[in-house]
Amino acid sequence: MINIKQWKKILIPYEQAVEELKVKFKAIRSELRESSEYSPIEFVTGRVKKVSSILEKAKKYGVVENEIEEKIEDIAGIRIMCQFVDDIYTVIELIKQRDGKDLKIQYVKDYLRNTKESGYRSYHMIIRYPLQTAFGSKEILAEIQIRTLAMNFWATIEHSLNYKYKENIPPNIRERLKKSAETAYLLDKEMLEIRDEVINAQKLFEIKSNTVSDIVHNIHALKLQGKFEEASDFQDKFNYYWEKGDIIELKELGEKLKSIVNKLSF
Ligand code: GTP
Ligand code: MG
Repeated sequence: MINIKQWKKILIPYEQAVEELKVKFKAIRSELRESSEYSPIEFVTGRVKKVSSILEKAKKYGVVENEIEEKIEDIAGIRIMCQFVDDIYTVIELIKQRDGKDLKIQYVKDYLRNTKESGYRSYHMIIRYPLQTAFGSKEILAEIQIRTLAMNFWATIEHSLNYKYKENIPPNIRERLKKSAETAYLLDKEMLEIRDEVINAQKLFEIKSNTVSDIVHNIHALKLQGKFEEASDFQDKFNYYWEKGDIIELKELGEKLKSIVNKLSF
């Protein structure tokens, strides 16, 4: 029997892998947001499976103790949430581009095309992930689940009901869950149809908020350089365009201000 102290040691690399993978996918999110104001990744979560759940799963599948790390593939788990179904495929491509670099794709489970009996939908990738630890190199298995916000909503609710009913959800609730899975599917389909509209609105919001924070920052920079009159002039213009809500005028103002501040700092 593996004791609790040994378990803690076994799980350290898995914790490291979850942290590293979260950092990497969050970095992709920021990089894409910065360069194109849109990221196919909405948010990322991760967890290491609890010892009790690992043992339960091992028992369920008849996995002996010394095979747990090789046979239980989701001790380290990452979840990537997307706004639209199409984004899932973009994320899959992003991961495929890294295959053989910082991770190795073992196999995938496509529960988008093959919806589970429960109604569950998601795209799973089982990867091998190399780590550097205090005791040298180690490669572990990890599961990446990629899904839309709607799929995540459904799976979260269904999971908590499964937990409550210990996998024996009453038939009427099961039926309702299946129906709601269908509704979530339709919601994703609807959203996909207005995707461009939504993305444009979000990009506009992103541009506007970046422009506004640049302007506020640069007005402050002017003041720091003792240019109080110019600063107050820009502040008045900013207030005016901001009230008007005109993004083009705001952008122009931002550019003008930026070039003045840049000249001053040299
Ligand atoms: P376990 O389901 O974890 O025993 O593993 P498995 O080897 O059967 O793999 P599977 O692909 O079925 O499930 C992997 C993971 O996907 C699970 O741990 C869940 O996080 C998720 N999952 C799979 N099926 C369902 C489902 O019907 N409902 C919910 N909420 N999640 C599911
Ligand atoms: Mg399963």
